[in-house]
Amino acid sequence: MQITMEIIDRLAGVLRSGLDFGPRVGIILGTGLGGLADAVVKPKVFPYQDLPDWPQSTVQGHAGRLVAGFLEGQAVLVMQGRIHYYEGYSMAQVTLPVRVMQRLGVEILIVTNAAGAINPDFNPGDVMLILDNLNLACMAGLNPLVGPNLDAFGPRFPDMSQAYDRQLCALARQAAVAAGIDLKEGVYVGLSGPSFETPADLRFLRLAGADAVGMSTVPEVIVARHGGTRVLGLSGISNKANLDGNTMTTHEEVLEAGKVLVPKLEALVRGVLRAL
Ligand code: HPA
Repeated sequence: MQITMEIIDRLAGVLRSGLDFGPRVGIILGTGLGGLADAVVKPKVFPYQDLPDWPQSTVQGHAGRLVAGFLEGQAVLVMQGRIHYYEGYSMAQVTLPVRVMQRLGVEILIVTNAAGAINPDFNPGDVMLILDNLNLACMAGLNPLVGPNLDAFGPRFPDMSQAYDRQLCALARQAAVAAGIDLKEGVYVGLSGPSFETPADLRFLRLAGADAVGMSTVPEVIVARHGGTRVLGLSGISNKANLDGNTMTTHEEVLEAGKVLVPKLEALVRGVLRAL
């Protein structure tokens, strides 16, 4: 399905007419991390099924609604439930929500995800500040910007040299110190999923410089940067990636880890929003 300006603007119009404020910060919540949306003050909820052309979340652990309101005094638009490529959507559909956020005036995007730890120093329950990403699915041709360039947002060939905003990273580090969180840092690799990686995949990704692995985030970050939106990325480490083939990875453990991760992510997001 081709995503046109008409589709994007129709969605922006529906949301605008339901809101009496303009969101400044967009937040995308990863698998098992939806609880963060419950912290939004004066919430206005838009179920995805009420939004024309909006892809539906089909995965357990993703509620499938937009929550607009306030967090730490900042006007936010929270995706409680993300859209993944492996659900059968095109990369343009996966990233449609980011386009709509941009049209609504969102300047900053906070992306969260659940990820497997490739770095042996990371453990389930840790949060990793994403410093950069390895873009395997998009490098292989699944880039969300393939197709006619949407000139209203940005150039045909957008720069990705500082995809993750350095000032926002600094604010996240400060928020971690204030909250007593041992914030890890590293490179996130985005794959298409939905199968988890083989041990050989994981050893290859480790050699390539990845610290954490997941099935999302990178497409949204590309579209955010194309439109000039600043990005902060936080990975909630849900499991150790299984480089030796001796343990299994399950969706249940990813969901379970969310319970430990949500309070940490909430503290970090709140700290960053307070400092903006
Ligand atoms: N691999 C890929 N995606 C994931 C993982 C993993 O180990 N954990 C959570 N999302």
